Amino acid sequence: MSSNKIFLFFIPILVTALVVAGTLSVQSRDKEMNVEEHQSGKEIKIEAKNLFRFPGDWDMIESTSITAFYPGQTSWQWLVSREHAGAAGVGDMRCSNCHQPGELGEELIEPGPREPDPIPGKQPVKDVQVKAAYDNEYFYIRFQWASDRPGQTHDLWRFDGHEWQRYGAQRPEADRENILPSYEDRLAVIIDDQNLKASDACQASFSKSGCFITCHNSMRQMSHEPSSEQVRKHPYLGREGLDREDVRKYLLITRTEQNEAGAWDKLKNREELDNLFNQGKFMDLWQWRAARSNPVGYAGDDFVFEYRKSDDGMQPFKTPDEPEWMYDQSITGFKAIPESRFEEHIRDFPLIIGETAVKFDPEVDFQKGDILSRRVLRKPEGSAGDVTANGSYANGVWTVELRRKLDTGNPDDKILVPGKTYNIGTGLFDDHTSNRRHYVSFVKTLGIGVDADIRACSIK
Ligand code: HEC
Repeated sequence: MSSNKIFLFFIPILVTALVVAGTLSVQSRDKEMNVEEHQSGKEIKIEAKNLFRFPGDWDMIESTSITAFYPGQTSWQWLVSREHAGAAGVGDMRCSNCHQPGELGEELIEPGPREPDPIPGKQPVKDVQVKAAYDNEYFYIRFQWASDRPGQTHDLWRFDGHEWQRYGAQRPEADRENILPSYEDRLAVIIDDQNLKASDACQASFSKSGCFITCHNSMRQMSHEPSSEQVRKHPYLGREGLDREDVRKYLLITRTEQNEAGAWDKLKNREELDNLFNQGKFMDLWQWRAARSNPVGYAGDDFVFEYRKSDDGMQPFKTPDEPEWMYDQSITGFKAIPESRFEEHIRDFPLIIGETAVKFDPEVDFQKGDILSRRVLRKPEGSAGDVTANGSYANGVWTVELRRKLDTGNPDDKILVPGKTYNIGTGLFDDHTSNRRHYVSFVKTLGIGVDADIRACSIK
């Protein structure tokens, strides 16, 4: 046996050992929890909803390989600061002129100035295979990447014998606080058609710097994150306005100035913002979510402008502050999932209004350890329902097909025109993480029927 083969021979043993160790550690952490024997991730199968069928043959379409890397807390403010040795080149050159994405991932996964709170054992990079196509009506894009275990749950409720408590968390907080790591896998795609500038004062733009122009020190889990009270008090973002309590992706062209905190609170006035929006100075953002959109066959349709917002209409999930929905026992055989069967049942029975869910009844004799998903799924409506998605998981690989009309007719979407080239960025969440703890790609070009990093083929 060559040394390679010997290594391959040991992989299944290693994986089994890791899974057993994982199960044991979950159990020893929380004596009350009676988690089922974990299946190995490779044995898990998740089927797509299949609201549409790709009318072409993916095997005939060329694949582009993208290296998505762990970026730590690399913000736009840091990239253009004196601390970044490449700052002077940022406006004129692409990141990829000076960096290999894989090397950045290896450096940034380690504890250091851009990662004060590392996740033990986290992989530094993920390879993503991308293919794209279009016909007369639709644009299709398919992503494939390996994931040891599919993250198909998000935040949860658990009945403690008396009350329903919030349950589950993201990593690394979950590991630290001995809470079940429950956050979903997610794929985000940003599309730009105007080569948006990083800020009014700066020559850097999306075609060279990619999604980094949307990433600021003020955002969640970044170095200058404002308190929720500060955001709630803000006249535009807070209670009187968008009603937010944290800061998410935004474009500096919507701000009147720049500062170390990312000028999160320095918004232009409404008229200026409306003008910019009407000129199309925003990015389209599609977010496929393994728990919060895939089971109904959709990806979220969002955009990045002065905030990361959802398109008009109704998103594929809602987030009640207390349990509002439970299972329809006549369909699933239970009203809430017994903890011992959690993983299997949540996979087979996502909580969907109109399918598996009925209104929550507090009179039910729930048992200690019963679990319900906090997020409740539903068929999205309006512009928020423009992107349908087939996400399936088999043999340790996610395959996600997205479909959207080339022209949705909605003002919060980018029109994709055959013959034109776009800038595209990809983000990937794996391993029960959220917020900044995704993998990101350098910017790529997407050509609709024309040569580019990713060429969408005509399948008319
Ligand atoms: C003109 C060349 C150049 C350009 C363009 C450039 N950089 Fe850099 N960057 C450097 C150099 C040189 C360093 C310091 C050496 C190193 O850590 O690789 C550096 C360091 C970094 C680091 C710190 C790595 C660590 O170990 O802490 C990050 C992160 C980074 N760059 C990201 C980017 C991103 C993202 C872009 C695009 C928006 C970019 N750089 C564009 C040259 C460049």
